[in-house]
Amino acid sequence: MLEAMFNAPVGDDVFGEDPSVNQLESIAAELFGMQAAIFCPSGTMTNQIAIKCHTQPGDEVICDKLSHVYQYEGGGIAFNSGSQVKLIDGNKGRITAEQVQENINSDADYKAKTSLVSLENTTNRGGGACYHFADIVAIKEVCFKNNLRFHLDGARLFNALIEKNETPKQYGEVFDSISICLSKGLGIPAGSLLLGKKDFIKRARRIRKVFGGGMRQAGYFAAAGVYALENNIQRLAEDHRHARQIGEALLEKPFITNMMPVETNILIFEVEAPYTPASFAEELAKHQVLVMPISATQVRMVTHLDITSDMVKRLAALIDQL
Ligand SMILES: Cc1ncc(COP(=O)(O)O)c(C=O)c1O
Repeated sequence: MLEAMFNAPVGDDVFGEDPSVNQLESIAAELFGMQAAIFCPSGTMTNQIAIKCHTQPGDEVICDKLSHVYQYEGGGIAFNSGSQVKLIDGNKGRITAEQVQENINSDADYKAKTSLVSLENTTNRGGGACYHFADIVAIKEVCFKNNLRFHLDGARLFNALIEKNETPKQYGEVFDSISICLSKGLGIPAGSLLLGKKDFIKRARRIRKVFGGGMRQAGYFAAAGVYALENNIQRLAEDHRHARQIGEALLEKPFITNMMPVETNILIFEVEAPYTPASFAEELAKHQVLVMPISATQVRMVTHLDITSDMVKRLAALIDQL
């Protein structure tokens, strides 16, 4: 990847003149069978640009209560788009067509206008859970019938595709916009893609500039993105295997409880006495294993391409000693 970055031809992407960025955007659009793509600095930015493009101030966005777009983007839906959210109490971050249908506002002039449904796949705070594709298609039908736009926060979509044996084109067919992070499991230093129709991406380009996300010689990152799309997708299965192995080792311990099903590369579980989430994280940090306490009771762990099978074996042995 570093070699690809060193050798990248670059130009000024604000003027659309960076050949490596243009290449990445067209490879990604082609991969998903969508018309166009735009490369941005972060997944937060691609989500926020999409929401801005799909809504007007005073609109309402339907999403799960655990959604990244609601929980971890600094109130961006309100700040950037002047829209509010209708939070759904889903199942590990996943919502259903029935829930979407029930939560569409009437067109009474005192109600916010429901204009967008935003899904997340895999779900971050839902422990890396994946949607069944049929459930996504059912939600799409509700969106279509009610003239709602349909956005996917696919920060870890490739983890879902690998685990469920699905294709990017299936997703490209149902969503109006898809955000993909290249900087998570795919391993590039920074950067995310937003995909959609040509006119949507044209508007997204304007909003990216307004948000301060227009980059000049971004091709060095884009070249890493091309490398990642060509080389780092299939290997995500290894991250999932590692996560399951770590999960098995953890479940041997009486102080580990309520582990969410380990579907992909995220583990979320509760830690009980004699540990707390913080003291458990501190103990592992002494051995260079970094994990994140995410609530008063829970810890989150993530596997990725820098975690080798040997490291996982050593971690299992370490957990055994605790
Ligand atoms: C589901 C989800 N969406 C979006 C993001 C945002 O990505 P970034 O950190 O690149 O802004 C994250 C980051 O953790 C995420 O987990």
